[in-house]
Amino acid sequence: MRISVCRIALAISVLSSFTGNAQLPSPNYDESKVGTYTLPALLTTNGGIPVRSGKEWKQTRRKEVLQLFKDNMYGQYPGGTKDMHFKIQQIDSGAVAGTAIAKQIRIYLQKGEQGPFIDLLLYVPINKKKPVPVFAGLNFFGNQSVSPDEHILISEKYREFLKFKNKNTPVVRGEQERNWCVKELIQHGYGLATAYYGDVELDDSTGWKTGVRSVLSKALQLRPEQWSAMGAWAWELSRILDYLQTDKDIAADKVIVIGHSRLGKAALWAGADDERFAAVISNNSGEGGAALARRNYGQTLQNITKSFPHWYISKYTTYAANVNALPVDQHMLLALMAPRPLYVASASNDRWSDPYGEFLAAQSTAPVYQLFHLKGLGTGQMPPPDTSIGNRVRYHIRTGDHDILLFDWLQYIRFADELVK
Ligand code: GCU
Repeated sequence: MRISVCRIALAISVLSSFTGNAQLPSPNYDESKVGTYTLPALLTTNGGIPVRSGKEWKQTRRKEVLQLFKDNMYGQYPGGTKDMHFKIQQIDSGAVAGTAIAKQIRIYLQKGEQGPFIDLLLYVPINKKKPVPVFAGLNFFGNQSVSPDEHILISEKYREFLKFKNKNTPVVRGEQERNWCVKELIQHGYGLATAYYGDVELDDSTGWKTGVRSVLSKALQLRPEQWSAMGAWAWELSRILDYLQTDKDIAADKVIVIGHSRLGKAALWAGADDERFAAVISNNSGEGGAALARRNYGQTLQNITKSFPHWYISKYTTYAANVNALPVDQHMLLALMAPRPLYVASASNDRWSDPYGEFLAAQSTAPVYQLFHLKGLGTGQMPPPDTSIGNRVRYHIRTGDHDILLFDWLQYIRFADELVK
């Protein structure tokens, strides 16, 4: 059989239009080309009724908005499994130069000791007089990346991820130390709870096959496609909170959920679904996180659903060509945190995450906070760099790159000192 080269080329081009290999438009970084848009109404119910009180928000509108996010973006948010149990693997009472206790706890999600499980690393100040407030956030490279401390068990799942991706990269202890600022947290009287995000689902379009969405499908009564990788990572944060609620060292009503970048997106979704989190912090979470989707600036919905199709449910991809048809925008996600304290942060060089879009979304939550007689950001003006602004809702744009650094943590500590502690 002879097939012409032309035919093959045609077949490839037709196929690529189905598989999504077509070229994405280059990102817009020109504010004058952002386009015009109308944000979906926050304070009008699906049936067109205005929402006038905190009670009405909680009883009606909040539920509707949460459901819209489930149906169109992140999928379902199951509770824990009935067979969850915890096992302390190690306790080191001389951590962080003798100022902290480091506990390593395995959170089993099924009966017995079979996986998947969540390996939690928990630091608590040693000289505490009462249960401490804690920051809870997922890490990118396994618990051993958070500190060079030799006692920290090397993440099994992170090793699995490297193997799966055929990467020969060595596992380096403390490679993200500067992103966690454990010493400062302890000094200020806070605990830190962290686990590898890949413990529940490896970050790959096929990750669901070995992660909780598939293994726990029966236990959770959900098919894998009814939720998303982002949903699974957020769910992991809730399971960490389940453990923290059992730990006498922790003030369970003072757990602040935090995340950077894609893990900032996960932290927001966890904060929206799980109101047990006392406060929520999004650091450079960008598109599909704190940034308004309707603004054509930096990463777009089209880009994120093409590059990371597993992060959201497939319905979300259907809005790629027409973002204005999406019944929600990210200011509504942020408003789901109300009346709890919320912090949104950007970085000046992180144009991909659309800092102004993150600011606008945070600012647009004000009417919901007002229903609770609380002041949100309190300004429509983007602040100068390195200046934390706001009230119950806060914002800063740090000078520099897409990252989470000491400057950011110091703002979060002050925010927690004033609004959570
Ligand atoms: C990519 C992605 C972003 C994400 C970021 C990260 O840049 O496009 O949406 O926030 O990775 O998680 O580091």
